Amino acid sequence: MDISDLNTALGEPLLDSLTFLNEVAGRYPDAISFAAGRPVEDFYDVRDLVGHLHRYQEFLATELGRSEQQIMRTLFQYGRTKGVIHELIARYLEADEGIVVDPESIVVTVGAQEAMYLVVRALCRDERDVALAVSPTYMGFTGAARLAGMRVLPVASGPLGVDLDDLRSQVRSTRRLGLRPRCLYVVPDFSNPTGITLDVATRRRLLDVARDEDLLLVEDNPYGLFTGRGDRLPTLKALDREQRVVYLESFAKTTLPGARVGFVVADQRVTGDGRNPGLFADELAKIKSMVTVNTSPLAQAVVAGQLLENDFSLARANARSIAVYRRNLDLLLDGLRERFSGSDVPEVGWNTPTGGFFVVLTLPFTVDDALLERSAREHGVLWTPMRHFYTDSQGGCHQLRLSCSTLTPQEIETGLDRLAAFVAAQLEPAGG
Ligand SMILES: Cc1ncc(COP(=O)(O)O)c(C=O)c1O
Repeated sequence: MDISDLNTALGEPLLDSLTFLNEVAGRYPDAISFAAGRPVEDFYDVRDLVGHLHRYQEFLATELGRSEQQIMRTLFQYGRTKGVIHELIARYLEADEGIVVDPESIVVTVGAQEAMYLVVRALCRDERDVALAVSPTYMGFTGAARLAGMRVLPVASGPLGVDLDDLRSQVRSTRRLGLRPRCLYVVPDFSNPTGITLDVATRRRLLDVARDEDLLLVEDNPYGLFTGRGDRLPTLKALDREQRVVYLESFAKTTLPGARVGFVVADQRVTGDGRNPGLFADELAKIKSMVTVNTSPLAQAVVAGQLLENDFSLARANARSIAVYRRNLDLLLDGLRERFSGSDVPEVGWNTPTGGFFVVLTLPFTVDDALLERSAREHGVLWTPMRHFYTDSQGGCHQLRLSCSTLTPQEIETGLDRLAAFVAAQLEPAGG
């Protein structure tokens, strides 16, 4: 079999990124890892899973009046394509996000990753359809779009998280080439990989540009609850009055990644072909029915139980984890200041996100996969080269991403000492 006979995306380095990064981490198990953007594991307990299942079972019986046989069927059988916990998710969205949506516009997915794939697959009619994405971009979106046959064109993030002039000019130049920009993918809160958050004025202006340019916004929000020192800001979806925003969320960070549950809110009206207007969510469900059939009802039940036990507030359910993320981000930023401020290392810089998992470090030398290997082997510290998040070959070549979500304070201190030693070794004159 020749790779050139397979889906063209399979030949692209992007699709090897995650495997490569996991493989390096696997080879150096004793290294301190600032690489993975995983949730903290300290509060997981198998008994909670059982508790969540029982709480959902009880809800079905007492609040929805379902018979034992109906409950068994809900948990054990194939289920509704759009999911079975959509009404509970709608209540969560209202409680924590101030987003009010018809539960019918929600599709429960196998992680946010499936939601991304469904959206790009639906938006791609032919090779003229392209996706725009704020760059640097979470590679899960770029990969999903490429597999769906869509090119991904970068829009600069700039100091505000999205450069609206660049967005306008990308939309217009793309159209002049006869292409159709179908959406802009954006992570407005504590973005992966940059940690940047869009301020409220920028969110409103982005919605204005989307309206003026007739563009759909795909908002991905896995980290919004993890505020550090700032206040929570309204999501684009909460500000959206015109169904401009397709909203994606993941329960990976707020419930557990192993459940593989996420969802998409797609309340856009789909018309044409003489049909009665339907919801974009129903078109996504058609694709889902041919990809994963339905999201595991057991996994949905675990999420549902957690929502029910916490008055539909994931902010409340995650209070302990949020405190860990805040502490760790503060320790990381303080630790960077202690080790890299001052005249010894004037060319080392970093951004200062106000929450989430990620910080970007800028260095005066080229940062690539070979250097990551050396860092792991010689200094026992892992991180992620930022170039994995760019679609062009030059982007991010002096930057690396640090994630601090799963580390203990001691690991952060030791990891930063190792990072400082690694940076110092790169700055030493050759042969010195
Ligand atoms: C921006 C972003 N979107 C989506 C995901 C993946 O979500 P899920 O695990 O639900 O597929 C991640 C995971 O790291 C992410 O950083």
